[in-house]
Amino acid sequence: MSDMPAPSQPRTRAGTASFERDGREILLALRRGQVHLAGEFLWGSNHTFLVQVEYAETRIPAVYKPQRGERPLWDFPRGTLAAREVAAYVTSQALGWDIVPPTVLRQEGPSGPGSLQFFVDADPEHHYFTFSQDEKQRLRPAAIFDLLVNNADRKAGHVLIDRSGHLWLIDHGVCFHQEPKLRTVIWDFVGETFPEAQLRDLAAFHRRLLGDPDLRARYNELLSPSEVEALIRRVEALLRDRRFPEPGPGRPYPWPLV
Ligand SMILES: Nc1ncnc2c1ncn2[C@@H]1O[C@H](COP(=O)(O)OP(=O)(O)OP(=O)(O)O)[C@@H](O)[C@H]1O
Ligand SMILES: [Mg+2]
Repeated sequence: MSDMPAPSQPRTRAGTASFERDGREILLALRRGQVHLAGEFLWGSNHTFLVQVEYAETRIPAVYKPQRGERPLWDFPRGTLAAREVAAYVTSQALGWDIVPPTVLRQEGPSGPGSLQFFVDADPEHHYFTFSQDEKQRLRPAAIFDLLVNNADRKAGHVLIDRSGHLWLIDHGVCFHQEPKLRTVIWDFVGETFPEAQLRDLAAFHRRLLGDPDLRARYNELLSPSEVEALIRRVEALLRDRRFPEPGPGRPYPWPLV
C-alpha cells in the first residue's frame, strides 16, 4: 500500500447480526456514493485502489479496480475482470451465502469504469495457510463456490475472516471462464460429499438460474452467453456429482500461493 493515509474504518458496518441491513446501506453507497482515492495496493497484478466512498451519512472503505488497470491475460477477454468480480457477488447473494463482499460496477470511477467492493477489515496475515484446523473446516462453502464460479486463482490470502468472524472471499477477476480452469489452494475435502445445506442451496440456485429472468439478465449483463451457459452446466454437474472433485490435469494450484 502507498503511504497515503488509510481511511478510518467503520468496524460495525461489517458486523454479522446487522450485516443484512448494513449490506443494503453499503450497496447503496457503492452504487451512488462519491469515490475518493485513498491508496493503492502495490502487491497485486492489476491496479487496485483503496478508496473512501461517501454517500449521505455513510462513509465506507472500498476497493476499486478500474478496467483500464487490468493486466492483459491470454485467456480472458480484455476489460472483463471487473464484471467478473460483480458476477461473483451476484452468485454469492443468489446462493444466499453472503461470502463475497458487496460489489458493484461503476461507470465513472476516478480512473474510469471498474468494480467497487466493500473493503473487508481483516488481518492479512490470517489466511488459509495460517487458519486453524477448525477454521479450515468452515471452508466447504468456499470450495464449492470456487467450483461453481470456476475460479482460476484462489490464493490463500483471498480467503479472509473479518474481525467479527465472518468468512469472506475476495478477488474474483479470473472466474467464469467457459473452460475448466480451477486453481485453488483449498483441496482439503477431495472425495467428500457436499453438505446437505449447500446441496439445497445449489439446487435452489439452479432453479433460479433457469426460472428467474432478473437473475439471468444480471448475468447476461456481466458475462458472455457461453459463460452463462457454462455456469448452468457447472451447477448441473455439481448437483449430479455431489462431491468435491480431485484436482484436474494441469496445474491445480495458483501462483503465487498466497
Ligand atoms: N474487498 C477487499 N477487502 C480487503 N482487502 C482487499 C479487498 N479486495 C482486495 N483487497 C486487497 O488488495 C489486494 C489486491 O487485490 P486483488 O488480489 O483482488 O488484486 P489482484 O490484482 O487480482 O492481485 P493478485 O495478483 O494478488 O491476484 C489483495 O491481496 C488484498 O490485500
Ligand atoms: Mg488476482
